[in-house]
Amino acid sequence: MGAKVLFFSFLAIMASTTQFHHLMPLWGWGTPGGVSNTSTIFCDSWRLGVEMNNIRDWSLVPKTCADYVGKYMKSDQYGSDCDVIADEAIKYVDGLQIAENDTWVFDIDETALSNLDYYAQDDVAFGSKPRDRDTFYEWVNTAKVPALPAALKLYNFLIEKKVKIVFLSGSADSATDARNRNFKYAGYTGGYQLILRSIEDYNNGLSGEKFKSVKRKELEEKNHIIIGNIGDQWSDLSGTNVGKRTFKLPNPMYYISK
Ligand SMILES: *[C@@H]1O[C@H](CO)[C@@H](O)[C@H](O)[C@H]1NC(C)=O
Ligand SMILES: *[C@@H]1O[C@H](CO)[C@@H](O)[C@H](O)[C@H]1NC(C)=O
Ligand SMILES: [Mg+2]
Repeated sequence: MGAKVLFFSFLAIMASTTQFHHLMPLWGWGTPGGVSNTSTIFCDSWRLGVEMNNIRDWSLVPKTCADYVGKYMKSDQYGSDCDVIADEAIKYVDGLQIAENDTWVFDIDETALSNLDYYAQDDVAFGSKPRDRDTFYEWVNTAKVPALPAALKLYNFLIEKKVKIVFLSGSADSATDARNRNFKYAGYTGGYQLILRSIEDYNNGLSGEKFKSVKRKELEEKNHIIIGNIGDQWSDLSGTNVGKRTFKLPNPMYYISK
């Protein structure tokens, strides 16, 4: 009897304060999955572990989180997470005195461009099933991949500030034409330099972090000052010559190793 009264008083107090709402996510409510269950709580933790670079070298999204990752990627939460990062980058640039060779490095996939519709297909299932190289490049070659809105906003701001733009991606340079057409289609029309991975790079063992480090070093040797670097993979932002500041966008769908 006493316990029951105490319980209802507790609920009444909780419901009558805004604190109640702040506590909800702790109980798994209001999460991207929208359902309170141990899977959602685990998948929230897994995603945080991925974003903090604590969970590395994973090849597929855990089976129990397939649904969760899909819901997150399609949710306003993902869009908002990206917006907050882009706004922080804009705030950083706004506080700088821009010099003539100041340069910003953008990764392409899941950074400048969003392949969400590709990853939403049943046979890829938001990274819970292995992606096929051929179908991915077919998709790239459509040259109709939309911009990630947050990245386009940052790009336009940088163009206005006369910062030089480099799109740097470890994806194949056989898609150079398609990428250029795609940038135009997606609204990246203020100029840029494009660096993709060639067969020679590939044969020289340049992949992931190593490839990007070498290319950024070459940029710096040509007098570029990398004031910022944004990507969805830790391997976009680690290694050498990473730039004065780095910005990590979320990506719980796949992991590109060093
Ligand atoms: C629990 O959450 C996971 C991840 O969002 C979801 O896949 C699963 O269907 C949920 N289970 C129930 C019983 O709601
Ligand atoms: C910018 O780069 C150009 C071309 O490499 C170089 O000639 C120039 O001196 C650089 N400017 C500054 C301020 O470093
Ligand atoms: Mg990427």
